[in-house]
Amino acid sequence: MEFVDGRYQIAGVDVLSLVEQFGAPVYVYDAARMKQQYHRISKAFGGAKRLRINYACKALTNLNVLRLFQQLGSGLDTVSMQEVELGLLAGFDPHDILFTPNCVSLEEVNRAVSKGVRMNIDNISILEQFGDQHRGVPICIRLNPHIMAGGNSKISVGHIDSKFGISIHQVPHVLKVVSALGLKIEGLHMHTGSDILDAQVFLQGVEILLRAAVDFPDLDYIDFGSGFKVPYKEGGIATDIEDLGARLTDRFNAFCADYGRELALMFEPGKFLVSEAGTFLMRTNVVKTTPATVFAGVDSGLNHMIRPMFYDAYHHIVNVSNHGGKPRIYTVVGYICETDTFGINRQLAEVREGDILSMANAGAYCYMMASNYNSRFRPAEVMILDGRAHLIRRRETMEDLLGTQVELPALARPVATVE
Ligand SMILES: Cc1ncc(COP(=O)(O)O)c(C=O)c1O
Repeated sequence: MEFVDGRYQIAGVDVLSLVEQFGAPVYVYDAARMKQQYHRISKAFGGAKRLRINYACKALTNLNVLRLFQQLGSGLDTVSMQEVELGLLAGFDPHDILFTPNCVSLEEVNRAVSKGVRMNIDNISILEQFGDQHRGVPICIRLNPHIMAGGNSKISVGHIDSKFGISIHQVPHVLKVVSALGLKIEGLHMHTGSDILDAQVFLQGVEILLRAAVDFPDLDYIDFGSGFKVPYKEGGIATDIEDLGARLTDRFNAFCADYGRELALMFEPGKFLVSEAGTFLMRTNVVKTTPATVFAGVDSGLNHMIRPMFYDAYHHIVNVSNHGGKPRIYTVVGYICETDTFGINRQLAEVREGDILSMANAGAYCYMMASNYNSRFRPAEVMILDGRAHLIRRRETMEDLLGTQVELPALARPVATVE
């Protein structure tokens, strides 16, 4: 969001006009920003002879977002059969989709195989069963390098107590299964967690994976996952992607020379590509002063944006409609029937009832983690593409809430009609 000529804009579109047109609360995505991030990461790792970026679509699966990345030449990283289906619907070639599930049934794995997508296997039990049924299908193995990366415990997934991946110490076991079943391992993979605070730890993971790679002679690619951190505050920690890119590609190219084949270097960023492109807009319902706090209560809550309550995530909040107001301290809260805080003790331009507040970094893991808690509707999504705002998901209605419910005739009574 930029402040231009006394008004806030997103990609050149006036923010208040977006609320007028689409209502509040609403998620707004700047397509140009997503493209910019895609080009930035491609350039940062451009030293690799074969680079493949697979957008980790769990961050945001709106079909238009998927198509945007598909048109940019991205592949797709998926973790559920539904994400696979969405990717195919969006026009991705099955070969450009990597399926990286965790703790899913063999049945779901088999369904993904039947769609022709690439498989990433993260436990030995499934490796044995999958290998037995699909001997000719090349696969990728997700290894857990046992390093502690990631911004907090909920998003650190490469450590010894994590459920993800096959332990690096179990590589000898993997090799026995591979040899017994005659499997072709075309890829190795790691993902150590989101919001990596120290690139050096990530590079340690890279070294561990490369050491393991020597034992796999049929590799076509190595996928180092993601976790690239974007800033959530002004001056906040961010991965220096250009520096990491230069260091990692040098190391990777040297590895390929030793390995004797030009492998593809793969990454699967989610947050890096879409986090900063998103802004969440909401309306202030009430300003409530208690003996200790001034609350700004908005027409949203953890049902729409759970990251502050779930991860203690900081999302920058701005009063868009009264930017000239006197700065005061507010705790911004939602309307959900439990502690539901978006930001504590934030300095905002004076907030009046009706004011529009924005939350930044609302592209990744925001709409996707929204729910119908308190039986509220999920908000609309809007994309700004080529300078114009487009509705890309309508706000839910009562019909959406009722659509999956099955009424038992024995309990049914005539009720008031639903509007
Ligand atoms: C396997 C895998 N790859 C990629 C990602 C994307 O991570 P990020 O959003 O930090 O880029 C995740 C996130 O949870 C993941 O689990």
